[in-house]
Amino acid sequence: MRKNKGKVFLVGFGPGAPDLITRRGEEALSRAEVIFYDHWVDRRYLRKFQAEKIYVGKQKGKHGRPQDEINELLYQAARDGKCIVRLKGGDPFIFGRGGEEQEYLEARSIRVVVIPGVTAALAAAACAGIPLTHRGVSSSVAFCAGHPTDKIQTPCVDTIVYYMAGSNAMEIMDRLIRNGWDKETPVAFISNATLPMEKIRISTLEKEIGKQKRVQTPLIMIVGKTVGMAKEPEKEE
Ligand SMILES: C[S@@+](CC[C@H](N)C(=O)[O-])C[C@H]1O[C@@H](n2cnc3c(N)ncnc32)[C@H](O)[C@@H]1O
Repeated sequence: MRKNKGKVFLVGFGPGAPDLITRRGEEALSRAEVIFYDHWVDRRYLRKFQAEKIYVGKQKGKHGRPQDEINELLYQAARDGKCIVRLKGGDPFIFGRGGEEQEYLEARSIRVVVIPGVTAALAAAACAGIPLTHRGVSSSVAFCAGHPTDKIQTPCVDTIVYYMAGSNAMEIMDRLIRNGWDKETPVAFISNATLPMEKIRISTLEKEIGKQKRVQTPLIMIVGKTVGMAKEPEKEE
């Protein structure tokens, strides 16, 4: 029989703006005894919660806690019967390693409850006014990883959203063109979506290819015809 131990809420914080966390997520935070949070979570927002707060963020290019260690920390905290929140940027199950944490904890009889968050693809598209699907133009969309380079995919869909595209934007566009995407296909670069530093740049594969531009991170790249419907494109320098 399953032993009665603690519970871990895997909560999505959303893309960055604190008012985009769900009410259910916020309620879990207010009941938590310990909150383990990521790099992209706004620390000022966490101040209002009584729980002990433990930073377990990983940032690209910087040494962070290995995932195995995070899994074990969650387990150790939960097995004492405490109410734990694991707060992650975006949605826990989209490039968030939430599945690994869930597997690790459930294998040790810890109950896991997942509370979804607004994933960066949806937030970035909304900020830029880009419908990811649109009747007659796009009826399929894929979320892909732009990193590591040897794992970049160009699936056969109408719209592709690339996460973690900051260092491989050129490689992604090159691969799309080599795999038959029209050079005139619009592409959007959206960084820090929903945050005060948000930047949106709309272009085409043809205009971008071969031009090494500095990109801010975190970055979402959206490719497809509906990107042409974006609002307020930034002026080219
Ligand atoms: C490790 S993934 C985590 C994704 C997260 N679980 C989600 O559902 O959005 C990190 C990537 O998400 C994207 N990202 C997260 N927040 C973002 C934001 N506010 N604006 C643009 N991209 C963002 C970037 O592509 C970044 O490299």
